Amino acid sequence: MKLTYYGHSCFLLETGGKRIIIDPFISGNTLVHDIDVKKLRCDYIFVTHGHSDHVADLETIAGNNPETLIVGIWEVHAHYNAKGFNTHPMNKGGWWGFDFGRVKMVTAVHSSSFPDGTYAGEPAGFVFDTPEGVVYFAGDTALTRDMDLIPMTCPKLDLAVLPIGSNFTMDYNDAIIASDLVRCDRVVGCHYDTFGYIKIDHKVAEDAFLAAGKELVLLPIGSDLQVS
Ligand code: NI
Ligand code: MN
Repeated sequence: MKLTYYGHSCFLLETGGKRIIIDPFISGNTLVHDIDVKKLRCDYIFVTHGHSDHVADLETIAGNNPETLIVGIWEVHAHYNAKGFNTHPMNKGGWWGFDFGRVKMVTAVHSSSFPDGTYAGEPAGFVFDTPEGVVYFAGDTALTRDMDLIPMTCPKLDLAVLPIGSNFTMDYNDAIIASDLVRCDRVVGCHYDTFGYIKIDHKVAEDAFLAAGKELVLLPIGSDLQVS
């Protein structure tokens, strides 16, 4: 499977011939220059929570990809379903089988509302269990002990995508502990640098992971990574 970084917490996961976008926030990201939201093609959009830095481009992308299925917690499903989009509801602890593999919705400790202030349910993370690899997207979250339920209930992770920017989420030091809890030493960082609140020193963060015997991958925006 291939993981492409679109900046902030937005990724494209390609597996089983399907294109899966996670947390579409691109056009409002001043660090993104060469990604045309209008040209993006996808089969699925997974939403961790309703904050604008995770959904701002969702309706544009879903509008341009009429077959796309939007997957999120019940309230995210209800919000977009009422607007006429194809949706699939989940809630925490549940698995669902899609045509590329199965996905578990897991705990995230954060808040969630839509940009208009309406309730968006609770924030969540996702574990993608596919024949080409197993990847955890933590979403926006603090470090939480619930993370150690993931290796107890899911196949061994090939990659963990963790927020590292602090202020709104855990920082890279807590992400090192998170990688212990989920038992995955290969981490892709997200939710850093986009705004002044979350700027980090890349070298310091990478060195902290190295000192713990782990790998922190900070993908340049637009670049990709082969998983497993
Ligand atoms: Ni958030
Ligand atoms: Mn966020």
